Amino acid sequence: MTDQARTAESDIPGKPTSASRTTLSHIMTHNDTNLLGTVHGGVIMKLVDDAAGAVAGRHSGGPAVTASMDEMAFLEPVRVGDLVHVNAQVNWTGRTSMEIGVRVLAERWNESTPATQVGSAYLVFTAVDADGRPRAVPPVLPETDRDRRRYQEAQIRRTHRLARRRAIRELREQRAAQGFDD
Ligand SMILES: CC(C)(COP(=O)(O)OP(=O)(O)OC[C@H]1O[C@@H](n2cnc3c(N)ncnc32)[C@H](O)[C@@H]1OP(=O)(O)O)[C@@H](O)C(=O)NCCC(=O)NCCS
Repeated sequence: MTDQARTAESDIPGKPTSASRTTLSHIMTHNDTNLLGTVHGGVIMKLVDDAAGAVAGRHSGGPAVTASMDEMAFLEPVRVGDLVHVNAQVNWTGRTSMEIGVRVLAERWNESTPATQVGSAYLVFTAVDADGRPRAVPPVLPETDRDRRRYQEAQIRRTHRLARRRAIRELREQRAAQGFDD
């Protein structure tokens, strides 16, 4: 069965994208720097994971864990004194997983210049029950043309993730059958 057919079959009522869209803001300080004096990429990745986790929890109505994070792009360095805004929303839902899209913006904390985009990422969260087992999520209901474009793009990424996982598993099985022990 295709992802689309499974989502359409879900008996959980859908939720609009705007119901869980979230922004997390943080001022960067000297505690956040790397050896070059700019903000450490890991600090930004933590904020991205936190914001995406809040969206996944809100959308699914309970706990959700990070299953994967891909295409984390750092477009510009972030500096001490930057006010960073992490915008996150559900792009796509499967049966138990959700793709969360994140945009990272930065502006000087004491200036009125517009914020610029400094990064972006796509994360997959899986909703889990009390025993850590995957549980079904409400289908996301895209509301705007932009939400619909993001839904379609997320489906492409989903297809590629599954194909890549399958291809690597098959290669490993072939090598094991050929006697390689690596
Ligand atoms: C994520 C996790 C719950 C998946 O469990 P699982 O037994 O492999 O479950 P399934 O294979 O049935 O996958 C469940 C869903 O997650 C998706 N998924 C699982 N692993 C994935 C991965 N690496 N990338 C993208 N999606 C993934 C599946 O496609 C499936 O989605 P669907 O139901 O919408 O089709 C499990 O691997 C886990 O608990 N991982 C640790 C998560 C964690 O602790 N994160 C914090 C890191 S410190």
